[in-house]
Amino acid sequence: MSTLKPTPVLRVAVIGLGAWGQCHAETYAALPGVEIAALCDADPARLAAIARRHDVPLQFTDCAALWQRDDIDLVSVVTPEHLHRQIVVDALHSGKHVLVEKAVATEPSDAHAMAAAARDTGRFLVPGHILRFDLRYAEVKRQLDEGAIGDVVSIFSRRSRPQKQFVHHSANHTAYVQMPHDIDLALWWAGSRVTRVRAVERCLRPELRAVEGTAPDVLWANLEFANGIVAVLHSSWLLPSNAGVDMGDYAEVIGSHGVLKVQTADSGFEMWSDSPASPGRYSPDLGIHHRVAGRVVGALREELGYLCDCIRGHRPPTHASFADAVHGVEVAHAVVRSAASGQDVVL
Ligand SMILES: NC(=O)c1ccc[n+]([C@@H]2O[C@H](COP(=O)([O-])OP(=O)(O)OC[C@H]3O[C@@H](n4cnc5c(N)ncnc54)[C@H](O)[C@@H]3O)[C@@H](O)[C@H]2O)c1
Repeated sequence: MSTLKPTPVLRVAVIGLGAWGQCHAETYAALPGVEIAALCDADPARLAAIARRHDVPLQFTDCAALWQRDDIDLVSVVTPEHLHRQIVVDALHSGKHVLVEKAVATEPSDAHAMAAAARDTGRFLVPGHILRFDLRYAEVKRQLDEGAIGDVVSIFSRRSRPQKQFVHHSANHTAYVQMPHDIDLALWWAGSRVTRVRAVERCLRPELRAVEGTAPDVLWANLEFANGIVAVLHSSWLLPSNAGVDMGDYAEVIGSHGVLKVQTADSGFEMWSDSPASPGRYSPDLGIHHRVAGRVVGALREELGYLCDCIRGHRPPTHASFADAVHGVEVAHAVVRSAASGQDVVL
């Protein structure tokens, strides 16, 4: 007779069912031993549609109702960035573990408040820094840890997106939208804290902003770390929309004995089409969230699956660090201040 105990089912909720929250729901629905217990979105029509798709009976338009329930283990917070703080703090105090999407906050004080709530409650709090779970970026870290290129001297990281996506992603400054990925990678790879920031920004296509605001479509940031490493980060929303590239990203780490590189503009797959629906050439990135043989694959599955395993095994999730995320918000805040003032910001 088998002595293996059945794995307890983990009950999760997703709060915020926009484009990315729907990917969270799809991923949880595909993970073994995980059940989507509840969904929450301020938009009732969207909530009902996604709940129908995944057959989820518990639906809320206000997450306060979720905090009353003691049968939910984990929540994914996938609402717009500036709303994260209250939801995360309330979720932790109601006993849930939390994954909060990047940018975890747009104010350092909000990030500190979330970290304090996690400390006070002893619940797990994980930032949605998904690239730590992307094979390509994780391999850079593994090689660095093995000393493959000696001591890191310099980091360059570029995130480049088509102009058409700026419409959806211009409600916040891009230091809190795209650049959190690059800031987190730089912190992870440098293994040190940032001491000085200098940033420059431009907006070449302000008419593409969804809401009137100050979001730049080009942003450069220069970071100096306490251990002497320098990093240059670049975010842009200026790829021609008809270039057919979703993610023209690139990273390069130079060490005393070599160089490590990641590039995603050529995913290895291309479609050339004359169909009116998607004319031209299209090369989507396949590493983040995709399907093979009906199964969800990619970095999001690795990230959420890792967290679920940690919760089941009562092991603190250390691969993505909330302490780094807090410092990342401080760095992003310094980037915004430096770009506005034209001055260095010392942290
Ligand atoms: N890790 C990644 O690679 C990645 C990718 C995309 C987005 N994100 C992050 O995910 C978050 C959401 O992004 P998105 O593009 O899906 O946004 P979105 O605007 O498409 O969706 C946000 C959703 O939240 C809902 N909402 C707003 N306020 C709410 C509230 N108080 N309670 C419940 N629901 C509420 C909205 O109705 C909407 O459905 C952001 O933090 C974003 O930066 C991360």
